[in-house]
Amino acid sequence: MRILVCGGAGYIGSHTCVALLERGHDVVIGDNFSNSSPKVLARLQRITGVPVACERVDLRNRLALIRLLLRHRFDAVIHFAALKAVGDSCKRPLEYFQNNISGTINLLQAMQAANIHRLVFSSSATVYGDPEAVPVQEGARLQVTNPYGRTKLVVEQLIGDLCHSQPSFHVANLRYFNPVGAHPSGLIGEDPAGIPNNLMPYICRVAAGRSRRLSIFGGDYPTPDGTGVRDYIHVTDLAQAHVDALEYLADNGRSLTVNLGTGRGVSVLELVRAFEDASGRKVPYEIVERRAGDVAQVWADPSLARRLLGWRAQLDVDAMCRDAWRWQFMNPDGYSGRVAGTGRRPARGFAPTNGATSPLRI
Ligand code: NAD
Ligand code: WQD
Repeated sequence: MRILVCGGAGYIGSHTCVALLERGHDVVIGDNFSNSSPKVLARLQRITGVPVACERVDLRNRLALIRLLLRHRFDAVIHFAALKAVGDSCKRPLEYFQNNISGTINLLQAMQAANIHRLVFSSSATVYGDPEAVPVQEGARLQVTNPYGRTKLVVEQLIGDLCHSQPSFHVANLRYFNPVGAHPSGLIGEDPAGIPNNLMPYICRVAAGRSRRLSIFGGDYPTPDGTGVRDYIHVTDLAQAHVDALEYLADNGRSLTVNLGTGRGVSVLELVRAFEDASGRKVPYEIVERRAGDVAQVWADPSLARRLLGWRAQLDVDAMCRDAWRWQFMNPDGYSGRVAGTGRRPARGFAPTNGATSPLRI
């Protein structure tokens, strides 16, 4: 299939482009690079051996989108393009509504104009808010606690309305839990702007000596060790689920909404220890006050994705930590710094690989 990947230069989008290309699909990235770097394109080519087509486009520009979709003959769209920082969304909700909701409406209109009927949408476990029970099933009550979460829920709902009004339109809503890790090559990964909010990039930063210690938000949750529990999922497993969802839409002509997680809850302290083992680095930490808006524990029931897509997460927490650390070590300044794998020798102890992860200590 020929796929438009909106937001394909970003963290999850870039890994999904690798999975799509490796599966033989044809990919065009559409991105405004508001939270990504064009340098990812050369890295994608290096990993896959295929030059990746890319168009700079902003989802808020409906006419540009329509022109883009009419210029190509896409079979489907995967839609990653969104602003995603929870705290930031509380400070500037209108920007989030405009980018994530209006941007999606523009995309849907452009898809209608170009007669494209298949969409894979990046939703989030954030639509469950503070779930009443774990593991969380797709039928659980939906509730949101911040403007970012609201954009995900609203978009799921408006896409649902569109599917009702237009039976030939099919969507895969993929509710990600906590994506972490990086491609085993160390060439692409998560490159947050400024000081990271999320746990794994912050752990990487501490392990690299760029922050003195990790603040663990709360040690008194009703969890086995008192720290928050989440369902971390390796980004390459997540990427594979997009390929499977796309093929499900093409083969079955039916919409679906599924959780994408491992089904296993991991505490903050467990993740810190796994990271120390995988990297050989210490991660000093202190336990501080709970972070406002955090919940004690969330993990997925991923069995529906298994039943419908035949997908399940393959990689464990050790692989997530090892690959996150490899990316951090090889790219201390993310995409803006020294470029690993473009002629310079990679850092000692790390060889970029195109294959599966192998045990690695530094
Ligand atoms: P990311 O910021 O790395 O990638 C998003 C990409 O979209 C970036 O390349 C950005 O430049 C682009 N973009 C944003 N607004 C755009 C616009 N108006 N026009 C064109 N391009 C635009 O984020 P990510 O972590 O890869 O997340 C991808 C998707 O998955 C997002 O929709 C996010 O909400 C969702 N999600 C992420 C997580 C997570 O923890 N990373 C969890 C659940 C859901
Ligand atoms: C994980 C755990 C923190 C940082 C967020 C969004 C969610 C989704 C994924 C997009 C929690 C603890 C964290 C730190 C810590 N994104 N923590 N110290 O909050 O589960 O989910 O990202 O859809 O919508 O809300 O992820 O990585 O921020 O936190 O102790 O410096 O790590 O309290 O228990 P979260 P996270």
